[in-house]
Amino acid sequence: MNNNNEKDYIQNQMKLEFSSRSENEGFARVAVAAFIAPLDPTVEELTEIKTAVSEAVSNAIIHAYRENESGMVTVECVIERDRRVVVTVIDNGVGIENVELAREPLYTSKPDDERSGMGFTVMDSFMDKLEVESTPGIGTRVKMIKNLDLAYGF
Ligand SMILES: Nc1ncnc2c1ncn2[C@@H]1O[C@H](COP(=O)(O)OP(=O)(O)OP(=O)(O)O)[C@@H](O)[C@H]1O
Ligand SMILES: [Mg+2]
Repeated sequence: MNNNNEKDYIQNQMKLEFSSRSENEGFARVAVAAFIAPLDPTVEELTEIKTAVSEAVSNAIIHAYRENESGMVTVECVIERDRRVVVTVIDNGVGIENVELAREPLYTSKPDDERSGMGFTVMDSFMDKLEVESTPGIGTRVKMIKNLDLAYGF
């Protein structure tokens, strides 16, 4: 996709920025759900996207900023042609040393903290595509794509 096509491709977009406080996990999931509501997603699609957003945002709050509430989390949501939803969760936290390892099912760096290490696995299975870019000391960008069922389009 080149820049000339980008405008045609994007139908609607939004960007949210909020403090890394645990109550904002709920805010982010409800905001994304409200933003994509005009697409009339199925209940299942909506639940899956909300759950994936929660997992990515909670990772930013818990891991990236180590529960320091002064960090800022950014959530971007883009609705593209053909009912494609792209959600990106960005933090400027500690970053991930080994992304491949972090994405493995059951891997957690906080086993004593009742974490199950399933966040990335949930994002992977509920969304069609998951991209994780991270730089230690700089931060992490988690991009998730879901193609909503075309049968429900208008
Ligand atoms: N935004 C982030 N910044 C820094 N580290 C992260 C971030 N997201 C994930 N990680 C690292 O990747 C690991 C795996 O994340 P994942 O969400 O799969 O499991 P978890 O958060 O440890 O447990 P669960 O999500 O099941 O509560 C985390 O334990 C953490 O070390
Ligand atoms: Mg997690």
